[in-house]
Amino acid sequence: MSSGKFLTFEGIEGAGKSTQIELLAEYLKDLEFKVVLTREPGGTALGEVLREILLDERQKNVVPMAELLLMAAARAQHIEEKIKPALESGKWVLCDRFNDSSIAYQGAGRGLGASHVQKLTELAFGSFVPDLTIVLDLEWKDGLRRATKNSKADRFEKEGAKFFGPVRDTFLSLSRKDSRYQVFDASSSVEAIQNELRLLIKSRFL
Ligand code: TYD
Repeated sequence: MSSGKFLTFEGIEGAGKSTQIELLAEYLKDLEFKVVLTREPGGTALGEVLREILLDERQKNVVPMAELLLMAAARAQHIEEKIKPALESGKWVLCDRFNDSSIAYQGAGRGLGASHVQKLTELAFGSFVPDLTIVLDLEWKDGLRRATKNSKADRFEKEGAKFFGPVRDTFLSLSRKDSRYQVFDASSSVEAIQNELRLLIKSRFL
């Protein structure tokens, strides 16, 4: 059994995941925990190469199943190379997106079906699930506006309502079914969300 904690952060683009992760990492480090910050797709040398391909808006004809399998390949490498060793040495791993993004984006957004994606996940990753998943919930239009304010839209950020509506709904419906998830209103202030998040971590784990 691992002794560290595995926390994942989910939500549509621009929901503020990375800001919250960084603030939470500061808090945990102040409490003398060892913390690893990572992200998906990415987190390893192989994963970062796959990320470039997956986000590249010049890749126009990626079929949904290929997209899912590339995400899964990056994840398989990430789990074995980085996440499991960190947890086994007692570290807290804070990961910007994980498998729930595949269920939401490829399963719902691309239309592969959430249950199909879950089947693949069970086959590929077995029972490797986060200790806690924070869902930052936001109107997708607000999120996209924030996400593309200072940078060019990537391959996903070019999508619209038909894609992001189901993505957001899927994060919410997953959250209703399992106490592993905790939903936060991402339209609140950074400080308010962080305070709530720290209280949650305290009550669940400390
Ligand atoms: P990124 O810029 O990291 O997202 P964010 O805006 O949250 O910072 O881009 C990652 C993109 O990859 C994002 O659009 C969601 C998508 N994605 C999937 O479609 N499936 C997945 O399994 C993962 C991990 C990400």
